[in-house]
This record gives sequence, C-alpha cells and structure tokens, in this order.
Amino acid sequence: MTPERIPLAGVVGWPIAHSKSPRIHGYWLKKYGIQGHYVPVGIRLQEFETALRSMPKLGFVGVNVTIPYKETVLAMASSVSDRAALIGAANTISFTADGGIYADNTDGIGFINNLRQEQPEWNPSAGVAVVLGAGGAARAVISSLLSEGAPKVILANRTRMRAETLQEHFGGRVEVCNWNEAPEIIADAATIVNTTSLGMVGQPKLEFSLEKAAAGSLVTDIVYSPLKTDLLLQAEQRGLMVVDGLGMLLHQAVPGFQQWFGTKPEVDADLRETVLAE
Ligand code: ATR
Repeated sequence: MTPERIPLAGVVGWPIAHSKSPRIHGYWLKKYGIQGHYVPVGIRLQEFETALRSMPKLGFVGVNVTIPYKETVLAMASSVSDRAALIGAANTISFTADGGIYADNTDGIGFINNLRQEQPEWNPSAGVAVVLGAGGAARAVISSLLSEGAPKVILANRTRMRAETLQEHFGGRVEVCNWNEAPEIIADAATIVNTTSLGMVGQPKLEFSLEKAAAGSLVTDIVYSPLKTDLLLQAEQRGLMVVDGLGMLLHQAVPGFQQWFGTKPEVDADLRETVLAE
C-alpha cells in the first residue's frame, strides 16, 4: 500500500551544498529499499525559524542541523536530549506529532561508535584521554569520552582560556594543560584526539609529536580531508591504534536515519567509498 506521504528528511544549514549527509542517507535509503528522500535544504538566517517550523507541514519527519544553526535550534526545541543539552548544540532533530521539535546531538555517540567499530580492542578507561582543541567538536568528543569511562580528559588548546571554559562546563574529570605540554602528557593516555582544524586541506599543519605516546594507545583525528592526516600517519608508523575521522561523520548519521526511516543502518565499507567518491 502506498503511504499517504513519503517521509522526507534532510540537512539544514547555510551554506549547504558541501554537505556529505545527502550522500550518506541516500546510500542507506537505496540499500534498504526504503521509500523516502533526504535533501539538502539551504535556509538563510533571517528565515530559519519560520522555515524550520513549516517543515513538518511539508512532510519532513526530521532533519540534521549544521552550521550555523546547531546552537540556535536548541532554543527553538520543545524537548532536548540530555546529551544535546550537555554539549550545548544539536545536530539531529525530529518533528513530533504535534509539530514540536525534539533536539538531539549524535556527534559524541558517532565519535565513540566509530572508535568501537574500527578498534574493538580500544579501552577508554585504560588511561587518560588527551584532547587537542576546544571548539564545538571538542565538546561532543569530551562529553562522550567522559561517559565512556575515561578516567580523566586533558584539554590542550592554543587559546588556553577556551579550554578552561570547557573545564568549568564539564567539571571534575576534565583538566587543562598548555598546548606545548601536550606532547609530554600523552605518555599516560589511552586516547589521543585532534579536534582542531589543523591538518585539514587548506589549513596549517598540525605539528605534534607522538614520540611519547604509550604503546597500545589510540590516535584519532576528526579531520577527514585528507583521510590520513600527518598525525594519523605518524601514529601508524609508531604502531599505535589509528582511526580516521570519516567514520565519525558516518556514525553520527545512524540515529537520525533510524528514527526517521525506522531501520538502523550499518556503516560499511561501501558507504565509506560512496562518500569518498566525489
Ligand atoms: P569547531 O566548532 O569545528 O571545533 P572552532 O570552534 O573554530 O571549530 O574550533 C577550532 C579549533 O581549532 C579550536 O580549538 C582552535 O583553537 P583556538 O581556540 O585557539 O582558536 C583550533 N585551531 C584553529 N587554528 C589553529 C592554529 N593555527 N593553531 C592551533 N589551534 C588552532
């Protein structure tokens, strides 16, 4: 039987043309033979609230939210998940039956599920986590490492004050060190994460020595362009566990797809290839 409405989902932001999310969800819709569509929706700032609120009337069941609306949308939501509230931003929303907005953040769980899938032997409680950077991405990474049992999260950021703000926000198990101290501190780390934009195509290099990293520690980068950043190449040469950043992008999409289209999708090698083939 044909449903009255084919479910629509998408990603809202401005600009939006660069988003890889339509490719990810499009791959899954096809793979699972689901009737539905996922589209990029560019909404200008001055129209954001009106446009978003009208989406359920058009048949949208939910959307991903990206820059510059990840914080704005929290204030519009009728309910907010604990993890989105903790991170202070949302990336996945669902429209409720009464037209309300439920806001969630799946970046942290996407980060963790990527590490778990790629390196099942990784044990986050085996040592501290060292996080480079204190921007939006760091917030999701820190909150998820804490909830996965990292005994401590040590933040290093060029602008120390931003790291201190996050320390105050997340409390007890978060510490701050100076940016140039981090290469020493990684000696005690089970997990080392770059959440800065350094090392991304078009950005300055990330100059960071992994010389002191403990054997068996895991190194990951949220930068996925290039897929193998200098940091990851260095980790590979040292025989450390390595996970690239593309998987985080793919895994953060899983909960939204499941909620909107009713099937929990798998992150597989073909999906990685599809997203990379641009
Ligand atoms: P996002 O929300 O994507 O994490 P962001 O908030 O702009 O982006 O954060 C970018 C991160 O990269 C910050 O931690 C930033 O450090 P500052 O807080 O000192 O700005 C870091 N970063 C960017 N360029 C850098 C550079 N040249 N050297 C060191 N850190 C840099």
